[in-house]
Amino acid sequence: MENRNSIIRTEVLCKSFLVDGEVNNIIKNMDLDIYEGDFTVIMGSSGSGKSTLLYSLSGMDQVTTGKVLLDGEDITKMSEKKMAGFRKEKIGFVFQGINLIPNLNVYENILSPTYKTKRNKKEIEEEIDSLLERFDMAEQKKKFPTQLSGGQRQRIAICRALINHPKILFADEPTGALNSSQGKHVLDVFSQIHQDGQSVVMVTHDLKAACRGNRILFLRDGRIDGELHLGRYQKEEEKDREEQLYHFLQERGW
Ligand SMILES: Nc1ncnc2c1ncn2[C@@H]1O[C@H](COP(=O)(O)OP(=O)(O)OP(=O)(O)O)[C@@H](O)[C@H]1O
Ligand SMILES: [Mg+2]
Repeated sequence: MENRNSIIRTEVLCKSFLVDGEVNNIIKNMDLDIYEGDFTVIMGSSGSGKSTLLYSLSGMDQVTTGKVLLDGEDITKMSEKKMAGFRKEKIGFVFQGINLIPNLNVYENILSPTYKTKRNKKEIEEEIDSLLERFDMAEQKKKFPTQLSGGQRQRIAICRALINHPKILFADEPTGALNSSQGKHVLDVFSQIHQDGQSVVMVTHDLKAACRGNRILFLRDGRIDGELHLGRYQKEEEKDREEQLYHFLQERGW
């Protein structure tokens, strides 16, 4: 059963860039709902505006016109200061490039977003341990980023994005820099947290990554050009899901 409680809603969202005096419209009058508990995947060709959309939805970048309601609040009207707090509280973000802090160990990296929150230290510490345990990373706790594999680093980045219990976890090509076995580990983490009820919005061009989602959106010419509903990920159905997705993309000339 799909959950139909909207957690992000855009209203005539537009995002343009000015390049050499020319206005370049990337996202065009978009009305979009993202639903709570969904693992939403955004696909589309390179340059179609996937990252731009993700940055607009998550408040990482300012929109040009229109509204973005995140958990009921219009983030386009927020001051920079309020937005910073709002982001910390409601949003987790995982990037393609691994962006751990090099001079902090694994534990300190996951801890870092909790600085300046009013949370209890002991509780946070226990939670970091349980996240590390859950994603099979407990032995890496004291290691520094350079001592980890790419896949391990990305799993730590996910732990860090989850530590403040975000309403939504955003991820832009989280497996883009990984080989397939490292990527699979990271995708298993995404499937696991989705199973636990976490709302996820992920951009990817990878079929295997995309079929972990239950709702796939295809972005073209600044608009959503079709969506595919796959239901909740089941490992046994992986082949069938990939096939459905492949046809969906093929129909769109991907
Ligand atoms: N800061 C910027 N200034 C000017 N143009 C930009 C800026 N950011 C993105 N663009 C343009 O917007 C378009 C969409 O870029 P975006 O990065 O969102 O694409 P994408 O779908 O994520 O592509 P990829 O799959 O290659 O990551 C591109 O034409 C890009 O050149
Ligand atoms: Mg991109």
